[in-house]
Amino acid sequence: MDRGWLESFLGCPDFQGMGHGQSLSDLNLGLGWVYYGLCRALRPQRIVCIGSYRGFVPILFARALKDNSDDGHVLFIDPSFVDDFWKDQAEVWSHFDKFDAGEIEHHCLTTQKFVASQHFANLGSIDFLFIDGFHSAEQVRFDHEAFIPKLSPRHLVFFHDSLSNNLSTLYGEDKQYNFSVFEYVDELKASGRYQVLDVNVEHGLSIVRSVDDT
Ligand SMILES: C[S@@+](CC[C@H](N)C(=O)[O-])C[C@H]1O[C@@H](n2cnc3c(N)ncnc32)[C@H](O)[C@@H]1O
Repeated sequence: MDRGWLESFLGCPDFQGMGHGQSLSDLNLGLGWVYYGLCRALRPQRIVCIGSYRGFVPILFARALKDNSDDGHVLFIDPSFVDDFWKDQAEVWSHFDKFDAGEIEHHCLTTQKFVASQHFANLGSIDFLFIDGFHSAEQVRFDHEAFIPKLSPRHLVFFHDSLSNNLSTLYGEDKQYNFSVFEYVDELKASGRYQVLDVNVEHGLSIVRSVDDT
């Protein structure tokens, strides 16, 4: 990843904030290094990302797959609940094209609708699942459990915003809610069935894998 690419990516106002600890002044991707680095090191083939404001995570994963020169694939699910950003497919493609990141297959659906679709039925095994949609314990449980049957033995599951009960106004002042992802991640820890690594940057990232697959 060269300096010019980092300048254009981090210089885009779309990719400031949103909890990844990134900064333009020192060309620091923050947690983006973790997403990119694990993708380079582990060479996943299929990645599913649930939820993204402007594509910070799907783009970094797609960029890493491209740099791996493998045939990896990023599938991105987001129903565009914050605004209209993900609604027009041609605009979505042109947004991704700006960052020369390789193909990202977007579905403008909730996880609930996606898993009921033929796309889900046809989906092969998943190596990385990145969960960053609606940040309630109930929703992340759904996002995780729905995809468990599809996870490959070498999978990793990422839960973003997993360590804080931050008050979110992302969906409007009248739809405020507190993050409760940590409640679900605490349950996974208590079950003894998962390895969980917490990364304490901004509202947190937890990286999870089933010990049954060790
Ligand atoms: C804005 S992101 C959170 C910010 C994120 N940390 C980032 O890097 O962009 C949350 C996204 O989840 C999506 N979302 C909300 N409910 C969802 C659901 N049930 N299924 C899938 N995505 C959902 C929203 O459309 C929104 O774009």
